[in-house]
Amino acid sequence: MTAIDKNCFQPQDMVLLIDRKGRRYLKTLEAEQVFHSHLGRLYHDQLIGQSVGGWYRTDKGHVLLAVRPTFGDFVTAMPRGPQIIYPKDLGNIVIFADIFPGATVIEGGLGSGALTSALLRAVGPAGRVITYEIDEKWLPKAQRNIESLVEDPSNLTITVGDIYQGIAERDVDRVVLDVPEPWQAVETIGDALVMGGRMLSFLPTILQVHQLVTALEDDGRFQLIDSFETLLRPWHLKDRSVRPVHRMIAHSGFLTTAVRCQPRGGPPAQESAPANDIEHENQETSA
Ligand SMILES: C[S@@+](CC[C@H](N)C(=O)[O-])C[C@H]1O[C@@H](n2cnc3c(N)ncnc32)[C@H](O)[C@@H]1O
Repeated sequence: MTAIDKNCFQPQDMVLLIDRKGRRYLKTLEAEQVFHSHLGRLYHDQLIGQSVGGWYRTDKGHVLLAVRPTFGDFVTAMPRGPQIIYPKDLGNIVIFADIFPGATVIEGGLGSGALTSALLRAVGPAGRVITYEIDEKWLPKAQRNIESLVEDPSNLTITVGDIYQGIAERDVDRVVLDVPEPWQAVETIGDALVMGGRMLSFLPTILQVHQLVTALEDDGRFQLIDSFETLLRPWHLKDRSVRPVHRMIAHSGFLTTAVRCQPRGGPPAQESAPANDIEHENQETSA
């Protein structure tokens, strides 16, 4: 078997073409195919077997940079049904929900499969993702997207059903929700999560967040309930023009996290400590 040169594009590789104005075009390379745009034609065969990160000229003389797309590039450009979760939130979901290799994760709301793919990457081949989707019509598009992003999604189970009505799984490590009324799933999540297991919900409006947090508190089995959002502000850095870009995505959604614990019997809990105040066991404390 000959080793594939990772420096060079192969047939069926995805390529991200970028023009001099920064416009981006995502393509899958196939022999004898042509990329057409107002910049002219670029034959896929000009790239196949050639260097990743190279500059390629169209028949109208425009030069395009060709790189491999990242997970985030593909997610942003992929065909969608329902609204996807964008890369800035996907990254935070993986860390704040503490999705780890080998975890069993329940997801609510397959949608277009962006979050599902991020979860599959994070749990790796030793983990499992079980997703509940109420609307069967989204499955084919989501499955195609997932297959483009995850090499072997055989550890994904798609269940067509309403997550608010309860789920069969028990002792799951994590639950991640992108459904409009997650407070309807709180009892279900409490039953499904292992003790110490973590839930995370993505919600676009703060009234939804308030309703979810109230339901989590009323349930009594959740502690360390936190809500926050992420603002990502890119900067323009060119010559003496060093400033934030004029436009940014000001809002996408809020993340709410909570941990499955024993219901509290005693006096009211103290405020949870900010994460950076956690004392590490190896840290020396002053007398
Ligand atoms: C915003 S989309 C999810 C998008 C997905 N996170 C992504 O990144 O591609 C919400 C999805 O939840 C599904 N949904 C809504 N209510 C549901 C329920 N009760 N149980 C399961 N799925 C539900 C919708 O059909 C829709 O596909």
